[in-house]
Order: sequence, then C-alpha cells, then structure tokens
Amino acid sequence: MARQDDETVTLFHDAVFHKSSTLLSQCPDPVKPEIAFIGRSNVGKSSLINALTNNSKLAKTSGTPGKTQCINHFEINETWYLVDLPGYGYARVSKKSRSKWETMISHYLLKRDSLTCTFILIDSRLELQKIDREFIQWCGENGLPIALVLTKTDKLKRSQLAQNVAQIKKALHEDWEDLPPFFITSSEKRIGLEELAQFIKDNCIVSLR
Ligand code: GTP
Ligand code: MG
Repeated sequence: MARQDDETVTLFHDAVFHKSSTLLSQCPDPVKPEIAFIGRSNVGKSSLINALTNNSKLAKTSGTPGKTQCINHFEINETWYLVDLPGYGYARVSKKSRSKWETMISHYLLKRDSLTCTFILIDSRLELQKIDREFIQWCGENGLPIALVLTKTDKLKRSQLAQNVAQIKKALHEDWEDLPPFFITSSEKRIGLEELAQFIKDNCIVSLR
C-alpha cells in the first residue's frame, strides 16, 4: 500500500477554488505567492493539481484537450495560490483563439509579480515536442523561473520510462547546460508527488517583497 504522503496533506490540504480570469487585470491582487502549471493540452495539468490537493473534484479534467480555458486560481491554506492554465499546442484551435491564448498567457507569465515558479508539464510517453522546446526556450529568454514535470509515467514500463527520461534530458541539454528542477510524476498512481510538494514548499512559497 502506498505510504500516506504527510507533507502533501499538510501543505495542500486546505484547497479552494478562488477565481477564474481571462485577463491579468482580473487575477486576484498579487499579494500572495503563486505557482502555475502549464504545458500541452491534455498533458495532465488539472489532474496534477487535484492529486497535489487530494481533491479529485477541484480542477476540471477531461479526456478531450482544451478543457481549461481560463487562468484558474486555487487558494491553498489561505496563504498561496496554485494556478491552472489552459494548455498549448492543441491542433484543432483557430488562429484567433491561439493568438488570444498567447496574449493572455504571455501577459500573465511576464507581468504577474507574485508568480514564483512556472511548472512546465511534459508527457513522459513522447519525445520532447517542438512546441515544448520552444516554450521552454521562451521562458529562458524571458528569465522566468521554471521547473519541469514529466506526467503520466504510470502508462510506461519502468525500462521505457528510463529510456524516455534520458532522451528528454538529452534533448534539453542541446539547449541548456544546466537543466531546471526536474520531476517524474503520475497523478493517477500518485508517484513523485511528495518530492514535488517538498520542492514547492521549500522554494516557491516565499514571502513577497
Ligand atoms: P487541458 O485543460 O485540456 O489543457 O488539459 P490538462 O493538461 O489539464 O489535462 P487533464 O488534467 O484534464 O488530463 C487529461 C487526461 O489525461 C484526463 O483523461 C486524465 O484522466 C488523464 N491523466 C492525467 N494525468 C494522468 C496520469 O498521471 N496518468 C494517467 N494514466 N492519466 C492521466
Ligand atoms: Mg486542464
């Protein structure tokens, strides 16, 4: 039986939906620290938020890409926010919606003073996708603190996972000498959540200047 993850429970137990915003100006006052989850549509952002908060109903998830459409703030312990963002890279999206996404997300990521770390989720089953690579590059160019989270590792055999992790890291090393913090997770099987929660607790819930 899996060990009860006390850190996660202590850190994230009191999670409530706070607000959905479509513009940076609608987001809550930037007085509490926050972290955001981003990545390709369907990669498992909302599911990871639910796993970290032990609440399967908190963020809406779906087998169909494009479920999350707004900037969703979830308040944790009344002291900080977990932010669920709409995904990128969904092919069946009009040019207009894509450019709306780009404006909303780039404003949010570049101008949100209380954002302490952006977690980029990557599907562990695939090789590093061009769009992920470009997004990571864009974050680097803009000096955004990031961490990488591999998702859905329960869907792979151990040997295949090791091979994919090595390939993804190799691809990242083509662009980066030092890799950002890197986590290997499954929301479904609750793998790697303790390490991720500990990292968030130690590095991201800082008092704001
Ligand atoms: P958008 O909001 O559309 O961008 O998607 P998202 O990144 O929030 O993905 P979401 O959490 O809605 O999950 C998409 C699908 O993947 C759902 O069917 C989830 O059940 C499934 N899923 C998410 N995480 C895992 C995981 O760790 N393991 C497995 N097997 N399935 C997962
Ligand atoms: Mg979502």
